[in-house]
Amino acid sequence: MKTVFINCSPKERFCASAYFLFLQRLFTGGTKVYEKLRTPADQAGILEQLRDAQAVVFGLPMYVDGVPSHVLRFMEEMEVFCRENKLCLNVYCIANNGFIEGKQNEPLMQVFENFCSRSGLTWGGGVGIGGGVMLNVTRILFIVDIGLLALNTVLSIVNTGDFFPKAAWIGFAENAALLLYFNLGVLFYLAVMGRLISKGEYFGKRYTRILIPSFVFILFADIFFIITSVLEGGIFKGWLARKE
Ligand SMILES: Cc1cc2nc3c(=O)[nH]c(=O)nc-3n(C[C@H](O)[C@H](O)[C@H](O)COP(=O)(O)O)c2cc1C
Repeated sequence: MKTVFINCSPKERFCASAYFLFLQRLFTGGTKVYEKLRTPADQAGILEQLRDAQAVVFGLPMYVDGVPSHVLRFMEEMEVFCRENKLCLNVYCIANNGFIEGKQNEPLMQVFENFCSRSGLTWGGGVGIGGGVMLNVTRILFIVDIGLLALNTVLSIVNTGDFFPKAAWIGFAENAALLLYFNLGVLFYLAVMGRLISKGEYFGKRYTRILIPSFVFILFADIFFIITSVLEGGIFKGWLARKE
């Protein structure tokens, strides 16, 4: 059983799609191939990987309530390729968006469903994830937490000879539990979908989001965008700059 996981984010690094596909690969059995779709040059290699595959999982961001245009171009090529080579693939999708409601990915899911029926492929379903950017930040925070724990342990050994600084471990466990909680909906659905991908079965469409109240999300999103605007040239400078 071979599954091809396609990261369709155009970002070079730190994309949310990579995070969700990493989790999905953990929950999926059989042979796993990971591909990136960023430019038209990536298309041929991915299509070749599909020849002997049984399943394909698209991991992609939602753009303007739909599928990013470079992914649509690839789907057009894939439709022809699958018809010509009479491929029978199960198609799954992990879509994420910046706003908090995962349900916003419904139109995108419908595009994939229609694509499958046109291409003679089997639609397996997918997970729509809201708050993708923020969930992606949780994995970065987790790595930072591990780094801080390592640093505290080294300092504790140097200063007191204690190999197990209890307070640092308790702090780490609390943070890890909180980050895990934020991701619970995603982990649950990806685990269920992974089991069904491995068995070649239908999953259906499921929607989840980062597990925080919306008003907290809005507050953090505002802070995030203000910091990003400042780092990318200043709030007003960016808005008022003459467009190229
Ligand atoms: C051109 C563009 C359009 C977007 N449109 C939407 C949108 O309609 N709704 C939304 O919730 N997020 C939207 N987003 C945010 C992305 O879906 C979000 O940043 C996502 O987490 C990116 O995933 P990635 O890191 O895997 O590329 C848009 C982002 C870009 C760059």
